[in-house]
Amino acid sequence: MDAIITEESFLDFKCPSCGNPVSFPQDTAGHVQECPNCTESVIVPDDGSEAGRPLPFPLATPRLVLRRFQPGDWKDLLEIVSDEEMFRYGEGRPLGEEEVLGWLETDRHVKLTTANQPFYLGIQLPDGGKLVGYATLSFAEPQRLQAELRVTVGRGRQRTGLATEAVAVLLSFCFDGIALHRVTARCDPRNLAAGRVCDKVGLRREGVFQQDHLLNGEWADTAWYAMLNEEYRAADNAAAPPGAA
Ligand SMILES: CC(C)(COP(=O)(O)OP(=O)(O)OC[C@H]1O[C@@H](n2cnc3c(N)ncnc32)[C@H](O)[C@@H]1OP(=O)(O)O)[C@@H](O)C(=O)NCCC(=O)NCCS
Repeated sequence: MDAIITEESFLDFKCPSCGNPVSFPQDTAGHVQECPNCTESVIVPDDGSEAGRPLPFPLATPRLVLRRFQPGDWKDLLEIVSDEEMFRYGEGRPLGEEEVLGWLETDRHVKLTTANQPFYLGIQLPDGGKLVGYATLSFAEPQRLQAELRVTVGRGRQRTGLATEAVAVLLSFCFDGIALHRVTARCDPRNLAAGRVCDKVGLRREGVFQQDHLLNGEWADTAWYAMLNEEYRAADNAAAPPGAA
């Protein structure tokens, strides 16, 4: 029997970081890929452009700037993550100064496309203001079509809508910016603030896994939330490119 030969078409364009020519399969159009020359993340053009798009960081909202961590963030970050209350419902433990410094050092080498590494964005008040929290984006599979979001806002700034504002712009980045198929979030069902943030941004509660992990020696549940690209668009969220102030 003759072999079936399928011809995959490729998109040829220039990396916006190093300027070298790159080529990716047609079905990666609009998604984030790693430049094989300089290893920077690049958004594959979906409009025939000669150059790929760089990641649109920082992301801006009316009250916040979401940007990569900087070495000088350590004090603000320590204030947030040394607080035991931040970890009441799991996902880590309070950190000390050395651990925060080590985290920031490791993070300097992480790119959005780095495999098996959470990608962090600091949540900062505008005009060089305080770092009040951070958000995490983790890809669920190597194709980078699905991601999980997490957000943390320090205790002194909670209940003023900052987490909701940060997650909303991250969803815009995920769906408008890098054309993800699906975004998820999870939390302990007792974490009412986290559940409420998910509700407010329109994430759909998909269900609760019963007693699926041990938390401080006791079995705890996980509530899962998700949004599909088509749901995001149906909700008429698609707007200006993320980060456009
Ligand atoms: C979850 C978290 C990010 C929320 O941050 P935030 O900036 O306070 O969130 P927002 O102000 O945007 O919204 C919080 C909502 O939860 C509500 N809320 C907060 N605590 C609540 C409680 N104990 N019971 C009921 N509702 C509560 C607030 O009233 C608000 O809803 P509203 O706008 O309808 O009044 C913050 O509490 C946090 O960092 N917690 C620790 C880390 C964590 O659990 N992250 C979530 C992982 S996905």
